[in-house]
Amino acid sequence: PPGGPGDAAGQALPLENWPFASYGSALLITLPQPPRAGQLLTLLIDYEAGEGPGVCWLAPEQTAGKQKPYMYTQGQAVLNRSFFPCFDTPSVKFTYSATVKVPEGFTAVMSATSWEKQKDNTFVFKMSQPIPSYLIALVVGDIVSAEVGPRSRVWAEPCLIEAAKKEYDGVIEEFLVVGEKLFGPYVWGRYDILFMPPSFPFGGMENPCLTFVTPCLLAGDRSLVDVIIHEISHSWFGNLVTNATWGEFWLNEGFTMYAQRRISTEVYGLPYTCLEAATGRALLRQHMDTTGEDHPLNKLRVVIEPGLWGVNPDDTYNETPYEKGYCFVSYLAHLVGDQNKFDAFLQAYVNRFKFQSITADDTLGFFLEYFPELKEKGVDSIPGFEFDRWLNMPGWPPFLPDLSPGQQLMKPADELAELWAADGLNMEAIESVDITGWRTYQLVYFLDQILQKSPLPEGNVERLSKMYPKISKAQNAELRLRWCQIILKNNLEAEYSKVKDFLHSQGKQKYTLPLYRAMWGGSEAARALAMETFSATAPQLHVNVQNYVKKILGLQVEE
Ligand code: BES
Ligand code: ZN
Repeated sequence: PPGGPGDAAGQALPLENWPFASYGSALLITLPQPPRAGQLLTLLIDYEAGEGPGVCWLAPEQTAGKQKPYMYTQGQAVLNRSFFPCFDTPSVKFTYSATVKVPEGFTAVMSATSWEKQKDNTFVFKMSQPIPSYLIALVVGDIVSAEVGPRSRVWAEPCLIEAAKKEYDGVIEEFLVVGEKLFGPYVWGRYDILFMPPSFPFGGMENPCLTFVTPCLLAGDRSLVDVIIHEISHSWFGNLVTNATWGEFWLNEGFTMYAQRRISTEVYGLPYTCLEAATGRALLRQHMDTTGEDHPLNKLRVVIEPGLWGVNPDDTYNETPYEKGYCFVSYLAHLVGDQNKFDAFLQAYVNRFKFQSITADDTLGFFLEYFPELKEKGVDSIPGFEFDRWLNMPGWPPFLPDLSPGQQLMKPADELAELWAADGLNMEAIESVDITGWRTYQLVYFLDQILQKSPLPEGNVERLSKMYPKISKAQNAELRLRWCQIILKNNLEAEYSKVKDFLHSQGKQKYTLPLYRAMWGGSEAARALAMETFSATAPQLHVNVQNYVKKILGLQVEE
């Protein structure tokens, strides 16, 4: 009707719900007559969001303050269809506005360019830039905010706000400025950060204007700030230039990993950034070892077909789109051979495709168009490195960027790991290494080496544990994850309680699944620990994470 929503001329239309896939159904609306091309239609859909996976309802005990309930939404990849009816595909972009009425004592925030509190606890939000459905996000809770920069504030529950402010006060703006210098204008207005309850399944989620992050980032020493740089990088790669299908998720994440490490190089230097990238490479190695290199999800381009037996887009969330994607973008940079030229290309790419959704063919076509001399040389079909192979073959990346500038930080860790893996421990050599001044990522890298060499000879891990309380009693989540993995791989039953405590303290998917896999692949006692921990923590986990754990433990998953 011409008058839009609420117009009395509105007409009720027949609705049907059609099967689509295990992760959603199609809403079929029959129009009274076929629309003409270019005709504007207004549809008013009255609906209720209930138990769907997109909207998470938390009881007070699941929050940091434990006083009031909390609700949040997580749209990516295909969960927002249970939050509101939509074209739930990253290939469609639109603006939105929302009016949210909440009970007394609660605050609502959304991924929107403007918001206003009106009377009766009503919040009005507007997103003035076109975005895909997965980037709409809402939180309602007992939350407060604090300024940390000229266009940034942190949001958290009152009991966490001091720690949140301290962690990121005065550091965000520099990342934004470097990002703008490298990739072009930041178009989203504000960049705020919301610290989520502990069960939030991700390290970070790049909801525009308002990144959601796990409270695990509150390490007290800014050591996990790479997650923030990552989410900021999505402001250009993902949120501005978006993968048109979830089968090419690497366009979002691979480019973002590259952008993250460009910003990190500018701010923290090349050695530190190479060290961080080396820990990423170790994650890719672990992932390919557990799934098998030839697993179909270890391709950059994954085939996703609708229907009940197709791949669920959420299953593409693994290390391949991130770290193999990073290698492919690094390979493109290597072909260009000049960092400044490649940076200029990235900026031109964002400018060319901003506010659009694209495929890898668009990206690579633009790359060859931008560098005609490379196109002429036929760089897309160099044997062993064909673009087609990069996209469509599973397996280890054919090209790895040179991380040797990080050697100065990695070498001491490599050498120390060697010492600890030996049969008769050379305690004199071990004691001569002072790790007190090591950065978190050096310790992470060291632990990854220990994990790779595990199980260590009998008794070594116990001694290592006693020698470095900084590691075995760490509060930092990245260190705790590795230490728990080492405990399990060496079957150190005396420290099982640390695995249990860590899994009780947070519900991040990338921490939770590797630990359940390790327990399930371990001893009887480890399996019992898995079952016991899961039955105690399952209600706190995000439903997606719950279902992935159930698969690992061979428990029934209802589709
Ligand atoms: N967009 C992702 C999180 C995501 C991916 C949610 C797929 C749902 C489906 C986010 O940007 C991300 O990659 N987070 C990482 C951060 C890390 C790579 C620094 C995470 O959560 O671990
Ligand atoms: Zn990401």
